[in-house]
Amino acid sequence: MPETALAGAVRSALASVLDPEIRKPITELDMVGDVAVDEDGRASVAIKLTIVGCPAADAIERDVRTATAAVPGVSGVAVDVTVMTPAERRALTETLRAGRPARGQQFGPDSLTRVYAVTSGKGGVGKSTLTANLAVALAERGLRVGIVDADVHGFSIPGILGLTDADGVAPRPTRVDDMILPPVAYGVKVVSIGMFVDSASAAVAWRGPMLHRTIQQFLSDVFFGDLDVLLLDLPPGTGDVAISVGQLLPGAEVLVVTTPQPAAADVAERSGVVARQTGQKVIGVIENMAGLVQPDGSVLDLFGSGGGAEVARRLSAGQDEEVPLLASVPLSIPLRAGGDAGAPIVVTDPADPAAAAIRAVAERLSIRPRGLTGRKLGLSLR
Ligand SMILES: Nc1ncnc2c1ncn2[C@@H]1O[C@H](COP(=O)(O)OP(=O)(O)OP(=O)(O)O)[C@@H](O)[C@H]1O
Ligand SMILES: [Mg+2]
Repeated sequence: MPETALAGAVRSALASVLDPEIRKPITELDMVGDVAVDEDGRASVAIKLTIVGCPAADAIERDVRTATAAVPGVSGVAVDVTVMTPAERRALTETLRAGRPARGQQFGPDSLTRVYAVTSGKGGVGKSTLTANLAVALAERGLRVGIVDADVHGFSIPGILGLTDADGVAPRPTRVDDMILPPVAYGVKVVSIGMFVDSASAAVAWRGPMLHRTIQQFLSDVFFGDLDVLLLDLPPGTGDVAISVGQLLPGAEVLVVTTPQPAAADVAERSGVVARQTGQKVIGVIENMAGLVQPDGSVLDLFGSGGGAEVARRLSAGQDEEVPLLASVPLSIPLRAGGDAGAPIVVTDPADPAAAAIRAVAERLSIRPRGLTGRKLGLSLR
């Protein structure tokens, strides 16, 4: 039986309902089955979820109800929730991959996503805290943002972004066949090994090849969709993961984080130099844990000063393009507390000087033109 005009109007209205994990309209995902409206205006809508026990089911059903009820002429709504057949699911994963072969890399040379790897020489300088807050600040500017927590041994992104439960465990991502849907926090799609372990303190004692495969799987099996920016939170130092990232994402650009301590400059510089050796471009330095303004107005330079500028100067030496110091993020109790609480301060306390410094970096990165260096332009010269 053909759909009536009113049923068609309901179907159109359902285009406003997004799958919260895939972040596309359910109508585009073929999740809407039969739609009918009887003479009294009672609508019945069939919804097909991707998997049984889909965590987004309640949200989808609620949004379908609201969108349907808002169509003029509809007096009541019944939603029938079922699950896709394996064939329908396969068709969906193929649509989402948009022709990309299964297990293909999403951020290859033809991708328009800007990939930034956040690195440092020393540990504990604030890479993860900055990565998480920067990602959220970029998402707040309207960009489509993802994070790969590439610190497999020392994962911390799920906690900083509030994706963990009271025991500190992150939820296991939804899977559609072999496609993993990354959880979304503060508008950012996130994947971390912390979502695949059973306890917050679980140790992942893997050597290089396993680390490499994990990052590779994150980049191929996790469905990020079209992203404007992908941030990678790297472990400290210049180890296996940094080299894997260089191999897997040769187009990645590198942000070097350092403290103001002049003595940390050597090791920070080294992390930038290693990134260059694997073909990546260092696009800026972020100094973190800079002077804290005290209530009396004096500045407490707990970690000294000048380290960020020094690293930027050294990494610029002999380069065609200068490596700028993008920001000096002050020590901030709210920034630390926000990380512990899983509530990034770029959202909860945007006026905090550290939040303002991070937002300024987000602004600078979001207006950088997309580089075409090294990309195939699809032109042929005759
Ligand atoms: N500007 C800051 N002011 C105060 N505390 C900060 C600041 N930046 C980071 N921190 C705190 O310092 C600690 C280390 O930060 P974080 O874990 O982000 O560093 P990291 O470089 O990712 O560490 P690792 O090398 O272990 O991965 C955290 O407790 C974090 O909350
Ligand atoms: Mg870290």
